[in-house]
Amino acid sequence: MDKTVLITGGAGFIGSHVVRLFVNKYPEYRIVNLDALTYAGNLENLQDIENAPNYTFVKADITDAAAMNKLFADYAFDGVIHLAAESHVDRSITNPNAFLLTNIMGTANLLNAARESWKGSYEGKRFYHVSTDEVYGSLGETGFFLETTPYDPQSPYSASKASSDHIVRAYGNTYGLPFVISNCSNNYGPNQFPEKLIPLFINNIRSSKPLPVYGDGKYTRDWLYVIDHARAIDDVYHKGCNAETYNIGGFNEWQNIELVKLMCAEVDKQIGNEPGTADKLITYVKDRPGHDRRYAIDANKIKNELGWEPSVTFEQGLAKTIEWYLANEEWLNHVTSGDYQKYYESQYANS
Ligand code: NAD
Ligand code: TYD
Repeated sequence: MDKTVLITGGAGFIGSHVVRLFVNKYPEYRIVNLDALTYAGNLENLQDIENAPNYTFVKADITDAAAMNKLFADYAFDGVIHLAAESHVDRSITNPNAFLLTNIMGTANLLNAARESWKGSYEGKRFYHVSTDEVYGSLGETGFFLETTPYDPQSPYSASKASSDHIVRAYGNTYGLPFVISNCSNNYGPNQFPEKLIPLFINNIRSSKPLPVYGDGKYTRDWLYVIDHARAIDDVYHKGCNAETYNIGGFNEWQNIELVKLMCAEVDKQIGNEPGTADKLITYVKDRPGHDRRYAIDANKIKNELGWEPSVTFEQGLAKTIEWYLANEEWLNHVTSGDYQKYYESQYANS
């Protein structure tokens, strides 16, 4: 094998699409997927490539510094694509410490292990930190996040991701560690854990449960199909400049309530329900504390410099996503049993 690449968080939503893309597209790379298999990690996401000769799975926790040092010593990685994180804002409000430990200390452990492993020479090495647009805080009615927008994180999740971004840059500046960072907008698509807006609502419509819209429903997000994010990660990893940041987005803003109505209409159509059936499930509930009003990415840097742009329209991506969830009931049933039921009951108890 030409190169050994570590992908962290590869059993999660975005990570599993990145692992699949790299395993299939680069047979000359050995891909090591490191994941702690938290509630969000699911090896069922990778059944189609689990026996590929260039793929290895390692169950380990990035908060375990000794384990990270050993892993880097064992595999001598050429590159790291770091996605492992606690990723759900609502969970960060109820349990911030898990976010601080994994997202900040876990990232620091990986950086330390990379620094030690690469101390002879940084030639051909790269640490790619995958981050979020939420580090920039909330926009008003106008404007976009640029790579130069000052950080202003507002939730424990976004503050922990902002911290990890700063630490990565500090290691680049202080120790010369070769790095690249991308900050992406909201992803949607197959294999997303049904606690985030789109899969949660598809799953609820499937079982005629209420669709809990926070506050006035006029919060705005910029949505990107996960496979397009994986393609962007491939481009940034291979073509991005050292020490640069790339914003990734869908050029695709939606107010939550408008998106929910579009989703309801598409699910009704695919299930064969009377039009308007799913809309009746929409229920306004109490708002998320500190809820960011609007995110919108200016993704022109990656478009102009690396030639990346989304490959599907939102309508196409959403239709494919709904089709996938409706066809994969077994996957949904597996991930929504057990602990998730308890989380759901406590998160929406007083709604
Ligand atoms: P996810 O929650 O679906 O997956 C996270 C994965 O990390 C899981 O497989 C989990 O088991 C693993 N993990 C968690 N803690 C770990 C630990 N301590 N050690 C090892 N593995 C651990 O998340 P996602 O939505 O796929 O997001 C992946 C990355 O992309 C995150 O860094 C997130 O901040 C970033 N991101 C996500 C979005 C989005 O819309 N989902 C947007 C932009 C950026
Ligand atoms: P989410 O998918 O949690 O992503 P993020 O908070 O990282 O943007 O939420 C997307 C939007 O949907 C956000 O404005 C919060 C809102 N939302 C609801 O209205 N109801 C819900 O049950 C959830 C989970 C989210």
